[in-house]
Amino acid sequence: MKRVVVIGGDDAAPEVVGPTVQIIAQLNLPIEWMCPSMADPDNPRELSQETKEMIDASDTTLFGATSGGQSRRALWYLRWGKQTFANCRPCKYFPGLRSPLKSPQGIDFVIVRENLEDMYVSCEGDLADLAPTNLLSRSSRQPIAKMAPGRFAIKAITELGSRRVIKSSFDLAQQRKVGGGPGHLCCATKHNMLPKSDGLFREIGFELSKEYPDIEFESLIVDDFAHRLVAQPQRFDVVVTPNLYGDILSDAASGLLGGLGVASSGCYGDDYAYFESVHGTAPDIAGQNIINPTATMLSAVMMLQYLGFSDAAQQLEHAVMSVYQDGECLTRDQGGSASTRQFSDAVSRAIAH
Ligand code: IPM
Ligand code: MG
Repeated sequence: MKRVVVIGGDDAAPEVVGPTVQIIAQLNLPIEWMCPSMADPDNPRELSQETKEMIDASDTTLFGATSGGQSRRALWYLRWGKQTFANCRPCKYFPGLRSPLKSPQGIDFVIVRENLEDMYVSCEGDLADLAPTNLLSRSSRQPIAKMAPGRFAIKAITELGSRRVIKSSFDLAQQRKVGGGPGHLCCATKHNMLPKSDGLFREIGFELSKEYPDIEFESLIVDDFAHRLVAQPQRFDVVVTPNLYGDILSDAASGLLGGLGVASSGCYGDDYAYFESVHGTAPDIAGQNIINPTATMLSAVMMLQYLGFSDAAQQLEHAVMSVYQDGECLTRDQGGSASTRQFSDAVSRAIAH
């Protein structure tokens, strides 16, 4: 029996998590679903102990999306509490997706975003507070505290954090190798401007590449990567990047396929993983029964794979793809007029067939 925590999240997110769980339930897998209470009755500003314990005792979590509050705290626990350092965001074209590209065929890559460090240490302050450090700007060669009054944010890249996410990206490239051809890993950093922090990330990439002679390793400056991502998306296989670039570029990558409504993701650590769509809570369409469940369903495909239910994962993936191939029951973001419910029912029927 596998235990799966379900956190629907905010605004429109529960509208896609609900049908996804219903569809998986239809597959008769040995899964026990658990819905935590979230809020701590004694301290509403904290995530309840019960929620944390439920997550700790579970095999994985299916997460909707957060706009703050308790679900934000739960997300923080799933990331930093459970040390899920590798955020894998696949970008794979299949027929029926409303791609803006003339020839999207063959787009099939994964962005692996480091999930815990970089700007996401969320450490900011007043520039004046840096006066005692005498830190100099490498660009202006002036003391950073003597710029005009303002703020700073810290970007922290550690050797351990970089090594583990880059290693898991090499391993992913290895798993994705088909036929006899070499795998490919691209590392996107801004090492020209940030030779110490992004430079470290990149150096570790080169160092680890020696252990993977059958994976071609390429280092691109992140702005150059952004251009190639749009101009030649088919050339990528696995892309590893520090946190903030990965956050931004994975949203951009989803635009190649048909937008955020179809972008899935899974966050993996050494001993826990959880799954969430790339999109946010879509407050503008909450309660209208029009949000696209594809991103959450494809995240659930990754979840089923992680749990070892490969056949079920394939069944769900094929069902979603067949609804796109058929094209009769697509949501508005994909050019159709189906509601969330109608799309979900179509996936459910495709599974039953
Ligand atoms: C994402 C989201 C989050 C992030 C937000 C909700 C904090 O944009 O998962 O990509 O920035 O990581
Ligand atoms: Mg994001």
